[in-house]
Amino acid sequence: MTARAALQPTPADKFTFGLWTVGWLGRDPFGDATRPPLDPIVSVENLARLGAYGVTLHDDDLIPFGSDDATRERLVKRFRAALDEHGLVVPMMTTNLFTHPVFKDGGFTANDRDVRRFAVAKVLRNIDLAAEMGAQIYVMWGGREGAEHGGSKNIMTALDRYREAVDICCDYVISRGYTMKFALEPKPNEPRGDILLPTVGHALAFIEQLAHPEMVGVNPEVGHEQMANLNFTHGIAQALWSNKLFHIDLNGQHGPKFDQDLRFGAGDVRGAFWLVDLLESSNYSGPRHFDFKPSRTEDMAGVWASAEGCMRNYLILKAKSAAFRADPEVQDALLAARVDELAISTLGDGESIEDLRRAPFDPEAAAARGAGFERLDQLALEHLYGTR
Ligand code: GCO
Ligand code: MN
Ligand code: MN
Repeated sequence: MTARAALQPTPADKFTFGLWTVGWLGRDPFGDATRPPLDPIVSVENLARLGAYGVTLHDDDLIPFGSDDATRERLVKRFRAALDEHGLVVPMMTTNLFTHPVFKDGGFTANDRDVRRFAVAKVLRNIDLAAEMGAQIYVMWGGREGAEHGGSKNIMTALDRYREAVDICCDYVISRGYTMKFALEPKPNEPRGDILLPTVGHALAFIEQLAHPEMVGVNPEVGHEQMANLNFTHGIAQALWSNKLFHIDLNGQHGPKFDQDLRFGAGDVRGAFWLVDLLESSNYSGPRHFDFKPSRTEDMAGVWASAEGCMRNYLILKAKSAAFRADPEVQDALLAARVDELAISTLGDGESIEDLRRAPFDPEAAAARGAGFERLDQLALEHLYGTR
């Protein structure tokens, strides 16, 4: 049993929440808002009370689209004061390039050049605010960068424009002497029928084509890879392997369907266990950021309960992963499954291809050996189910 105190989140756990998550009004394509607008100050108060480390935001989450300069300044000042009062930080910021109808064909990749110029200017303005807020990561989620009609967009040209926009942003950060880095957030579809940079793999390949690949990584979201029926933990492992896991969006999803944005730990529970197991054993030291939508069935008490649930579920899975790793029977099963052997290079030190070819080996004997993976996986499930 995990001690109750161990499930109490503290800022040291680095849990962060988007203002747009707890602030989601519950509006969906079929129904109106089920909750009233939430003052960002109230979000800051409540998230601090629950033990969060920080909040993240789009420009428009704080400063409504089209606000004049005086309103902008007033809202930023008020927000800053609340952060300071409650001890929360803003480690990540991002731009809303999807809500206003002007972005119906995208921001960076809209066919309309004036829209693209407006989108880039909107990002650059918010990068200044992000620097002022101390954000170290700037997320780019291109939800409207995509298409539904085959002939409506030349995808290769759209990728040229996408690259151009990211390059401009990197140059801007360098020219202003900021230290922030960018994190691209993949998603296969929704709101566009097909979105550019649909998976972690697509985003990693795109980054290599940029003028400053060292400044750009990924911000993968659990549900987005799962919408594409992919193994999220494997995607995160490859992002880590590429030194590109700059940020992460934690939530829950039940397989390939619409973007559910469930609270973290709901949805694919087994996947969540392996994800926490990987993150906690990796060198990722950034925020554990929750990007979820509290069910529209809930009132505000339910919203805070679901935010708390995200953090508790992470801590529960972290404790279970630690217990799994410390279990002597698991350690024995890992050895029997030769998990450690994979770390030994295939070709030995100083060995030639000829040595490899001539090495004695009995393929029939190797083929007859059981892998021992079922025993290992059953031990993991028993830790997860709480019987060990
Ligand atoms: C989604 C996305 C968004 C983005 C966020 C940052 O659920 O489709 O995750 O929530 O992360 O808007 O731009
Ligand atoms: Mn999502
Ligand atoms: Mn997200």
